[in-house]
Amino acid sequence: VIVVPVPLAERGYEVLVGAGVRHELARTVPPSAARVAVVTQAGIGVEVDPGREHRVFEMPDGEEAKSLATVEDLCRRFAQWGLTRADAVVAVGGGIVTDTAGFAAAVYHRGVSVVHVPTTLLGQIDAAIGGKTGVNLPEGKNLVGAFWQPRAVLCDTDVLATLPPRERRSGLGELAKYHFLGGGELDALPLDERVAACVAIKAEVVADDEREAGRRAILNYGHTLAHAIEIAGRHDLRHGEAVAVGLVFAGELAHRLGRIDDGRLAEHRRVVAAYDLPSTLPPGLPDDELIELMGRDKKALDGITFVLDGPRGVETVPGVARSDIEAALDAVRSEGDRS
Ligand SMILES: NC(=O)c1ccc[n+]([C@@H]2O[C@H](COP(=O)([O-])OP(=O)(O)OC[C@H]3O[C@@H](n4cnc5c(N)ncnc54)[C@H](O)[C@@H]3O)[C@@H](O)[C@H]2O)c1
Ligand SMILES: [Zn+2]
Repeated sequence: VIVVPVPLAERGYEVLVGAGVRHELARTVPPSAARVAVVTQAGIGVEVDPGREHRVFEMPDGEEAKSLATVEDLCRRFAQWGLTRADAVVAVGGGIVTDTAGFAAAVYHRGVSVVHVPTTLLGQIDAAIGGKTGVNLPEGKNLVGAFWQPRAVLCDTDVLATLPPRERRSGLGELAKYHFLGGGELDALPLDERVAACVAIKAEVVADDEREAGRRAILNYGHTLAHAIEIAGRHDLRHGEAVAVGLVFAGELAHRLGRIDDGRLAEHRRVVAAYDLPSTLPPGLPDDELIELMGRDKKALDGITFVLDGPRGVETVPGVARSDIEAALDAVRSEGDRS
């Protein structure tokens, strides 16, 4: 078992990584909890034993289920069962479950303890770590939420065996990102060490900037273009696949701005290829549309702000010129899709 501490100002906690760590659940649930509400989805099939009276509450699958309606439904079922403020919630699932159940835990009785048991690769290295919880509105993703740190996170690598290949690929895109956030040659490590290395990077950044005042933005490396690709639609890329394209784009942009050398740019392409992830945009997404989506809500008068690699590592870079963005987009277009 690898133990990664998350040293927060008010109350730090531990992330346990390894085969079978879900069996540590009973000792990570606070002693005050007489009952535990286990929130999961029907298709996951990961059983946990919180070591006290518990009941399983299933929630539906998919991004549409990450909603206030699901939070209300969960809270009502908790109340009907008699879950008290001293009790606890355990979320067993991917990012959809940990975000939704985490937010329900943050608001039920003004906050009850939660332990996350992430069951997707993306959940283990990203979504379940860091205390951001929340749900979507029809107007946009993650618009309602709270910072609510878990008591513990149990990343049991055994449960990844049943993950559908598409979901694994999505997680690999996020894994590729950590190579450039100080992870180095992560692909050479065994799975548990790789997961633990990503968790350690995220934990360090979160501990440094718990409420996302600044530095936490580097965790969005590769995400500016990825989000634009996701919002534009008209393709079937998963989040992590869009992040992979976004990483190559960010490498090209940083290279163009003289922030990284040829070798570091090649490293971006090598890592993405090593995970068998896409490095080109889906066809038919014009520059104008992608640039407008990337610039949205950023209120930049002179160019868009990006998260880019450079001599000091990955950091926020404001005021990137449109001509550089267009050139970098061109570098991630497939042959027939260039302007
Ligand atoms: N809070 C954060 O900091 C943060 C960070 C990144 C992403 N997220 C959120 O995470 C969500 C995406 O999470 P995701 O990629 O884990 O998707 P997901 O939660 O939808 O899980 C993917 C699918 O795999 C199934 N599944 C989960 N574990 C399984 C297992 N072990 N075996 C078989 N099937 C399994 C799920 O039921 C689901 O159908 C998004 O809503 C995103 O906004 C949050
Ligand atoms: Zn992501």
